[in-house]
Amino acid sequence: MAIKNQEAWGSRIGLVLAMAGNAVGLGNFLRFPAQAIQNGGGAFIIPYLVCFVLMGIPLLYVEWAMGRYGGKSGQHSAPFMFDALDKRFFWKYLGVLGIFTNLAIAAYYCYLESWTMSWAYHSVAGHFMGKTQAEVSAFFSSYIGLTTVEPVVFWILCVLLNTWVLSRGLKGGVELAAKIGMPLLLIFGVILAVRGVTLTAGEHGAVYNGVLGLSYLWEPDFSSIWDPVVWRNAAGQIFFTLSLGMGCVHCYASYVKSGDDIALNAMSAGWMNEFVEVVLGSAIIIPIAVGYLGVDKVIEMTKGGSGFGIGFVTLPFLFAQWGALLSALAGFMWFGLLFFAGITSSLAMGTPCMAFMEDNFNWDRRKAAWTVGAAVLLLGIPCVLSQEAFNEFDYWVGTVSLVVFALAEVILFAWIFGMEKGWKEITDGADITVPIVFKHIIKYVTPVFLLVVFFGSAPEMWAVLTKKITPYVAVARILLAGLFVGIARLVYIAHRKPGAL
Ligand code: ALA
Repeated sequence: MAIKNQEAWGSRIGLVLAMAGNAVGLGNFLRFPAQAIQNGGGAFIIPYLVCFVLMGIPLLYVEWAMGRYGGKSGQHSAPFMFDALDKRFFWKYLGVLGIFTNLAIAAYYCYLESWTMSWAYHSVAGHFMGKTQAEVSAFFSSYIGLTTVEPVVFWILCVLLNTWVLSRGLKGGVELAAKIGMPLLLIFGVILAVRGVTLTAGEHGAVYNGVLGLSYLWEPDFSSIWDPVVWRNAAGQIFFTLSLGMGCVHCYASYVKSGDDIALNAMSAGWMNEFVEVVLGSAIIIPIAVGYLGVDKVIEMTKGGSGFGIGFVTLPFLFAQWGALLSALAGFMWFGLLFFAGITSSLAMGTPCMAFMEDNFNWDRRKAAWTVGAAVLLLGIPCVLSQEAFNEFDYWVGTVSLVVFALAEVILFAWIFGMEKGWKEITDGADITVPIVFKHIIKYVTPVFLLVVFFGSAPEMWAVLTKKITPYVAVARILLAGLFVGIARLVYIAHRKPGAL
């Protein structure tokens, strides 16, 4: 197989920022606070942290190690990385999930990302000033109801922007975007978090202290710790926030040089994500919303666990109470940080498919990037047109597929490739001492944990599969199945090519 893929990271800080940017996303600022508050506030953090240690950290090590190992043989996407670890034919087809999931998540994720561009514009233009909450809510409904062409324009712009950055390559595109986006995100996040927790009753019409929201989130409450749903939601959040089980961590890590550290890099990116999620993610939307509306109302508004209502309706409405200038600034920073969080994640979703085409079909990166952009647009159409199709995508790829892929990779890595060799891969060139306990956690605890999560969700999957479906759901499923089969077919062709591995 001719290996043409010449991509590389420009610097270690660039790699860590890109990997952290991959993890830090809309999930940190919208999904996490909504999930935390819905799952009992202080009760959520214990299952969440346990899932981080028993699933998040081990999978980070595994994915980085698999990535660097694949990169050594010129493989930068999951199908042939899996193949490099074991030659039985089915592994590379399981590895298809490592391209499939990224494209399918990007399809609806870029649409969400495009909302942040639009809302940043409306905030700066002062369009939320003087509006009641009901009016901002009506704007949101008419936006997602596609009553004007604006959502489509922003969506196409957003996909074009992602594609253009991707076409500039790893160093000149993805890494540069992370080097610009991540510091700005942190600055905006810290400013808004300080504002959130220092908001006091009476200030700008607030009724309560913002810090009340923070204490609700973090006051230890053990009442729902035995609730399996809380555990499943905590596990789901860890997957989503760290971008695990997707294949994009593998892809980024595959461009690390063979003797370079991955252990410290993995921990730096992972812990940076946790800082942004637990510290900044908790300190913005919940304290500000609680300051005006109180805890009970905020709990009611986060039902569904996505945080969209608070993020896109309540916050712009509340910012508008702060006067024209502050409102424009706050809106620009809030939607700006969401945008940077979003784009550094969606760029990562584009890379595995590009790498696959570059590695196996000798495509140049521009052709690969524009093809990925076109695929994301095509797959995104039903998600833009229908909430049901959007939810269907989110369920099968944003929830189920991640767990299946993670289960496959951890079994392959720890049991087939073997934990002795695997541990060597993790610790080779390491700039930190990786606690030996993780060797055992990766081998025994993480797979069992994943099996429990998977089988625990099986009844729900069955219920989703067997419920009566609408045409949009059918279209979504056909597209997803077609995408999987299409990628599997390309893997088959690549494998059969003369000189293939
Ligand atoms: N990890 C990304 C997020 O949290 C996908 O949004």
